[in-house]
Amino acid sequence: MMREWDNSPELEVQHLTMRFGGLVAIGDLSFNVARKQITALIGPNGAGKTTVFNCITGFYKPTEGMLKLNHDNGKQFLLERMDDFRVNREAHVARTFQNIRLFSGMTVVENLMVAQHNTLMKASGYTIGALLGLGSYKRAAAEALDKAAYWLEKVNLIDRADDPAGDLSYGAQRRLEIARAMCTNPRLLCLDEPAAGLNPQESGELNKLLRTIRDEHDAAILLIEHDMSVVMGISDHIVVLDYGRKIADGTPAEVKIDPAVIRAYLGVEDEEDEELVEEAIVAVAPALAAAKKPVPIKQAPPKPKPTKKAVKGKAPAKKAGRK
Ligand SMILES: Nc1ncnc2c1ncn2[C@@H]1O[C@H](COP(=O)(O)OP(=O)(O)OP(=O)(O)O)[C@@H](O)[C@H]1O
Ligand SMILES: [Mg+2]
Repeated sequence: MMREWDNSPELEVQHLTMRFGGLVAIGDLSFNVARKQITALIGPNGAGKTTVFNCITGFYKPTEGMLKLNHDNGKQFLLERMDDFRVNREAHVARTFQNIRLFSGMTVVENLMVAQHNTLMKASGYTIGALLGLGSYKRAAAEALDKAAYWLEKVNLIDRADDPAGDLSYGAQRRLEIARAMCTNPRLLCLDEPAAGLNPQESGELNKLLRTIRDEHDAAILLIEHDMSVVMGISDHIVVLDYGRKIADGTPAEVKIDPAVIRAYLGVEDEEDEELVEEAIVAVAPALAAAKKPVPIKQAPPKPKPTKKAVKGKAPAKKAGRK
């Protein structure tokens, strides 16, 4: 089936494999990230999500595979051949980290100015001229400050501009990280668990911010997130990983009723636990019915498990009806 994200995507991940010694952290992974969409990359702990980001952003050299970034002006970048510095500066891919990385001793606004260091250095002509009042540098510095102020407004931190970043609450630091990434004008923004540690109000604000970035700044967003209220609430497209392999790829409505996904999240290992899967399928049955789609259990990727048949035979919608 042709999907929105397969039609001139911003990022194409093709047959990506990353091995660490004997461990296959990512195995033959392919998916697309559409422009102007929020794509979530989800999966249990250790599934390989952060490793995917590290490959995309040039922190790791993939063992195999291609990471093709397509700007809407026709420019293409093979990210697997670029280091992290060029991925950010030339390909315009920005990221935030699972563990916040800010300059905690610098002020909030200084953190945003440092992010724009490359633009400023270029304008300075890499000379002392900048200090002597070179016009182009002054202009670039003013623009950088404007951009910092714009994003501080957006993330609701303008009142904290001159405070040390380390003094901000956890949630505020997460927002500052996103502002910092946005100051580099990304075409692709990769966020590694931005809702981790946020309270419900903060994660509601985060949802709003990410929608704004998608709708008003045309950036493609690739989001790793465990908080399902965020994932299901704002994603246009969800890719599910388990043990480094893709087990599902679709809309939120499709993915949340996919038996392979339910199985992965419950950590079903043996036959007895199939009971658990059945219970979970019953639990999602109302969503299924609401979707008014053919019973999706038949669309599940075939697994070489003999027990699969037992599950397959039971239509979740029917079971729900009996309850
Ligand atoms: N640099 C590395 N060297 C060796 N093994 C690594 C390295 N980075 C990641 N791994 C391994 O690769 C696997 C995937 O890790 P990764 O951090 O990508 O998972 P994740 O999906 O982000 O998990 P979490 O949800 O816990 O953040 C894990 O088994 C991890 O131990
Ligand atoms: Mg991770």
